[in-house]
Amino acid sequence: MKIRSLFISTLLLAGLLPAAAQSVKLTAGNIDAVLKAMTLEEKARLLVGERQTKVPGAAGATAAIPRLGIPQTILSDGPAGLRINPTRKDDAQTYYTTAFPVGSLMAATWNVELAEQTGKAMGNEVLQYGCDVLLAPGLNIHRSPLCGRNFEYYSEDPLLAGKMAAYTVRGIQSNGVGTSVKHFAVNSQETERTSVNEVVSKRTLRELYLRNFEIAVREGHPWTVMSSYNRLNGPFTQENRQLLTTLLREEWGFDGIVMTDWTGTRNTVAQVHAGNDLMEPGNNEQVTQIVEAVKAGTLAMEDVDICVKRILQYIVKTPAFRGYKYSNRPDLEAHARLVRESAPEGMVLLKNENATLPMQGVKTVALFGAQSYATLACGLGSGCVNIAAAVSLARGLSNAGINHTADLSDLYKMGRDFDDAHNKMLQESNWDRAAGRTQYPELAISRYLADEQAKKSDLAIITIAHEAGEGWDRPIEGWRGFNLTADELDMIKNVTEAYHAAGKKVVVVINSGSVMETASWKARPDAILMAWQPGGEAGNAIADVLTGKANPSGKLPMTWPIDVMDHPSSMNFPTRKGTNDEVSLHEEGLKVGYRYFDTARKEVSYPFGYGLSYTTFAYSKPQVKAAKNGFTATVTVKNTGKVAGKESVQLYVSAPKGKLEKPAKELRAFAKTRRLAPGESQTLSFTVSSYGLASFDEAANRWIADAGQYAVLFGANVEDIRCQAAFTLKKAYTQQVNDILQPDQEL
Ligand code: BGC
Repeated sequence: MKIRSLFISTLLLAGLLPAAAQSVKLTAGNIDAVLKAMTLEEKARLLVGERQTKVPGAAGATAAIPRLGIPQTILSDGPAGLRINPTRKDDAQTYYTTAFPVGSLMAATWNVELAEQTGKAMGNEVLQYGCDVLLAPGLNIHRSPLCGRNFEYYSEDPLLAGKMAAYTVRGIQSNGVGTSVKHFAVNSQETERTSVNEVVSKRTLRELYLRNFEIAVREGHPWTVMSSYNRLNGPFTQENRQLLTTLLREEWGFDGIVMTDWTGTRNTVAQVHAGNDLMEPGNNEQVTQIVEAVKAGTLAMEDVDICVKRILQYIVKTPAFRGYKYSNRPDLEAHARLVRESAPEGMVLLKNENATLPMQGVKTVALFGAQSYATLACGLGSGCVNIAAAVSLARGLSNAGINHTADLSDLYKMGRDFDDAHNKMLQESNWDRAAGRTQYPELAISRYLADEQAKKSDLAIITIAHEAGEGWDRPIEGWRGFNLTADELDMIKNVTEAYHAAGKKVVVVINSGSVMETASWKARPDAILMAWQPGGEAGNAIADVLTGKANPSGKLPMTWPIDVMDHPSSMNFPTRKGTNDEVSLHEEGLKVGYRYFDTARKEVSYPFGYGLSYTTFAYSKPQVKAAKNGFTATVTVKNTGKVAGKESVQLYVSAPKGKLEKPAKELRAFAKTRRLAPGESQTLSFTVSSYGLASFDEAANRWIADAGQYAVLFGANVEDIRCQAAFTLKKAYTQQVNDILQPDQEL
């Protein structure tokens, strides 16, 4: 103690520490005083992340400065739940967390309250495991079905993505921990993600790729935003002051911190000047660069102070600062129950001919497809939660009292030890150990065993599972591709032919985080369920839907095209076709997802917003009332079927003809009913502001909603408009904004 104060007095005498340094300890009320007391070196340290050992497996941390009472804070992935190491060296305790459904499933629920509730449970695990910020949600726009991280993200539509993110943020942060909405912005591909220049028009940016973040920031108030790896219209997003300061803070009012994605050293001075407060994961070189740049006058102390102050404002909100006594024991059982209850709300029933589902009188099923026995909870990369194993579909069905044929399950298990297997069937398969994941002998199994299995079981279930992940985009072909492999297509053919010949039915369950090709094979099975990657309770939740314990109410948050090349973006995804120039030109502009398919009347396999139910709904009494700023609308939804269920209603608006060309219709609001009993009705309400109706006129740098009549369309999906009303905007609405983010290349 004595030695320490002697040391500080020596420094004070030498003029090396600011005068107030001696006694100041950070409190919520003395941030300015602490800032004043900090040395340049300390300030630089705070802007750069540091390694941490407090929570093994957490992605990063902010630096501790004990002298000033500044604790280290812990940042941890990710969007589907807390990603930390479940076991620790020399420690008998386990630290498992809950794998919640992936983002695309959550978006398919169209249920913002459920997103909030899920966020609340995730945030509780963040708090109870000693972390301060969850690096989530991810809300980049699904520009192409091929983006490897689409499973983490929500939708091709910015309103749906923005609202889901805002409510998830609110839920997580209700625990007194933070979020980091990511990746800001236009990180819609993984190929060359740390170098690619996304070139996007100002209008497309404002209406599509930034609108989602705008909603999340304005309505969710996240503590932090994560700037992306990529460049945008020239500079890296992390170095772009127009993006991080002019837009994010001055226009949208963001008052938290911006941290980089997990980048090495870039132009540190430009990052600080841009308003990128925190460099993650951080290294000493960056600290030195900040110190030297300030000394050399190439970085203003004022820029540094602004960032430091924001970090201090963040720190005083954290559990680490509050000294929160975390338990390391969140209620995992309660969270598993939530996952099981909520996942069916996002599962999408794509086809259900002759009421195949829910299964009736089925005692034994045959489970084809390797992932029937090893169901995928989530995608790969930082969005994957470290659980022991998800409940498999086989296990979920057993739990529900449905048997599966043992000989088939034994065969799939044997596929894992192919070296020991010797029969003709396995030799004929395309099983490929080199591919890194076991490729099971689907073709051979279905060819040789389908007839026999059809005799032994009442129904067949085929699981199709293609995995995607961080750092790579999905190929079109192959076992991770958008298209099904030839073996999978043959399996569907063989199994459906055998079962139909025996007068029995076949269900396909898709266990993938994003959209798949369906047009070429969807006529064959009797029912198709898009189960996504539904988290740790996967098999139980799927079984609940198959048995009718739960009625699926998910609707697609993205268009399912016939061919992936039908998307205009495919011409330039991931880079300009035929080139490798690390530039991704968004020549398609707003022609992304349904904004293209619906406007061009291009046929799709399943439209945006599509999803069946075990019951039916009728819409009536569409009403629109002008409000002070925009309009409010209502529609009444009645359950006209025989079982209870929920229905989400999408409110699309068709704008009057004006100067700007516009999509035929755009999603402007949505709502979901509570669980309605047969015969029960509910009136849903929607609010749309004039700003929410506006398009971006890039020549004038302003938002504009033309005066005139707007058709207000209440849809079960984008192609199925059930009823409509109209709204008249008497006077054009305009809002002038900054002229920023100009593309650096011609589009
Ligand atoms: C990912 C982020 C993640 C971070 C920390 C990065 O590679 O892009 O989404 O939060 O790693 O793990």
